[in-house]
Amino acid sequence: MYKIEIESDVELDYNASEAFKALRTNINFCGKDVSVVAITSCTPNEGKSITTYELAKTFASTGKKVLYVDADMRKSVFKSRFGVAAKGDGLSHYLSGLADIDDVTGEISFQNETHQYDELEAGTYKMYAIIAGAVPPNPSELLESDRFKEFIAYAKENYDYVFIDTPPLGAVIDAAIIAKRCDGVAVTVKSGEISFRLAQKVVNQLRLSQCRILGVIYTMVPISTKRSSGYSKGYYSGYYGGYYGGGYYGKDAYEKSYGYYPEKDNKKEKRAKKNK
Ligand SMILES: Nc1ncnc2c1ncn2[C@@H]1O[C@H](COP(=O)(O)OP(=O)(O)O)[C@@H](O)[C@H]1O
Ligand SMILES: [Mg+2]
Repeated sequence: MYKIEIESDVELDYNASEAFKALRTNINFCGKDVSVVAITSCTPNEGKSITTYELAKTFASTGKKVLYVDADMRKSVFKSRFGVAAKGDGLSHYLSGLADIDDVTGEISFQNETHQYDELEAGTYKMYAIIAGAVPPNPSELLESDRFKEFIAYAKENYDYVFIDTPPLGAVIDAAIIAKRCDGVAVTVKSGEISFRLAQKVVNQLRLSQCRILGVIYTMVPISTKRSSGYSKGYYSGYYGGYYGGGYYGKDAYEKSYGYYPEKDNKKEKRAKKNK
């Protein structure tokens, strides 16, 4: 086990963190037997990685023991996005037999005060993560191996929840191979981008894996920056549709609220003022 230092974490605004809580609740309602969940999409850039990470984090924040697995071994953005210092070994090393599970498992500590999960008390919480590792020449074969099967069995046994980020199923087959071993799979769909036919193709491919399809996570839904209308349009329409409205509040608002902490100091000041 090694420590992962996240240098540039995203900070969710109120609506986005509420949406992740709703998603957490919906996954809880899928039943106790759903603890290993893969997330995929039709095409790249539909918000899979961010969604998987934030979802894992919101489960971890309630005190659950959570493992986040970056299984997009072809195009992992984890290290670069979060400014994680170079630590070579990851899933590809484990699957190739070059490392043990414990060597590739990292521990991330989060400070509650930098997050907005209001049910939390002061202090820290932890999440465990396995990064993708070096790009292997044969990702699909590695995922088909018994070692991956053993890995999932181990993870299910040792963690309350396991969330697996995968490559887009419209491009490569990996996500279906991963889903075959999972209790459930959810598909992120970027608002306004994906044709019905493509989505249907991906869902049919997932059906062949015989994995339970938990539902769709609708991301980057354009909603107003004003909280009142944003709330009713984004959150509720998402909620009643069985979808999750992924909190896209116009580009500027997104940069501020969901980007890389430009508002952080600002927020601290405000909080300090409020506490006076
Ligand atoms: N809900 C969202 N609202 C706005 N932008 C988002 C959202 N989710 C992801 N993004 C942005 O979209 C891009 C792709 O996201 P990412 O999670 O890497 O997608 P994928 O893993 O599906 O390729 C990133 O730049 C990310 O910051
Ligand atoms: Mg990704």
